[in-house]
Amino acid sequence: MRAARFHRFGPPDVLRVESIDPPRTRGRELLVDVHAAALNPKDVLVRSGSRFAAASRPLLPLRVAEDFAGVVARSSDPELPAGTRCFGMLGYFRFGAAAEQVAVKRSEVARMPEGLDFVQAAALPLVGLTALQALRDDASTKPGDRVMIHGASGGVGTVAIQIAKALGAHVTASCSAANHELVRALGADEVIDYRDTPPHTLSTRFDVFFDVFGNQPFAKARAVLDARGRHVSTVPRPADFLWQARTFATYPRTRVVVVRPRRADLDRLARWVEEGKLRAVVDRVCSLDEIADAERYVESKRARGKVVLRVR
Ligand SMILES: NC(=O)c1ccc[n+]([C@@H]2O[C@H](COP(=O)([O-])OP(=O)(O)OC[C@H]3O[C@@H](n4cnc5c(N)ncnc54)[C@H](OP(=O)(O)O)[C@@H]3O)[C@@H](O)[C@H]2O)c1
Repeated sequence: MRAARFHRFGPPDVLRVESIDPPRTRGRELLVDVHAAALNPKDVLVRSGSRFAAASRPLLPLRVAEDFAGVVARSSDPELPAGTRCFGMLGYFRFGAAAEQVAVKRSEVARMPEGLDFVQAAALPLVGLTALQALRDDASTKPGDRVMIHGASGGVGTVAIQIAKALGAHVTASCSAANHELVRALGADEVIDYRDTPPHTLSTRFDVFFDVFGNQPFAKARAVLDARGRHVSTVPRPADFLWQARTFATYPRTRVVVVRPRRADLDRLARWVEEGKLRAVVDRVCSLDEIADAERYVESKRARGKVVLRVR
């Protein structure tokens, strides 16, 4: 089968599409024929070798992408028999969705929502699970909460706006002015341009501050948090873990979200899609052979929503 991978860490040019053996399923794993796969900043981080390189070098060549949508090819799972359209994300630092087939654990895959095509479905799992787990589990978002989403126009942000609205919150979105129309269309009640008004300088007080982009750490953002405010960050920095430990039993508090694949959460996203409360925002669709250009665009940090690879 055809799969994207790289044999050494470096710039996007190290990416190759090669013919490799199809994956072998182990235990209760399902085999999926992949139709579309989405990229995330973590793909760029791993491939560039800026982190994890020393630990992962013995594993080279490494494969690419965690998000997939496709059709179950082989399964012993009564909920997802062969022929079912499915979507999901690989977890536990496994990559390889940018390939014609992938072996997945039961927790990593769910029935694809009605009304989406494969490209749209591949755009949702990792960012949707991140936003859901950050807002619902880490920040305990409740109806009526005032929520700040900083980095609102990227992959996680575009979904986080819609999930915060589905949870009943009042949403302020922070992104550059060029994307204000987009985030309003997704449901943001208020918008700010972080270039003119850094979120931590606002006079508003928020119940929840979701630092999606990763440059509004708790030390800064606490200035605009309510006394019982909850801050969540996507970027695991040592200082944030220290704050997380220090605020474990107090308010305002902070958490670092660590996204985990979970079928019940994928089902939750699918229901919101079917109820018209959640849609995928796809900026670019590339072919598998255009993987280097696709990663270059993700690396630019200017994507509006997701970059998706059409695999077949
Ligand atoms: N911990 C976890 O489990 C987890 C899970 C998922 C993602 N993440 C991390 O979360 C971060 C965001 O992921 P993503 O998929 O949303 O990334 P993304 O799609 O690449 O984000 C692109 C967006 O970043 C915005 N941006 C660029 N510079 C900015 C700045 N200086 N301030 C604020 N926003 C800026 C851009 O908005 P404008 O053009 O409007 O400025 C663009 O729309 C990444 O670091 C990713 O690795 C962590």
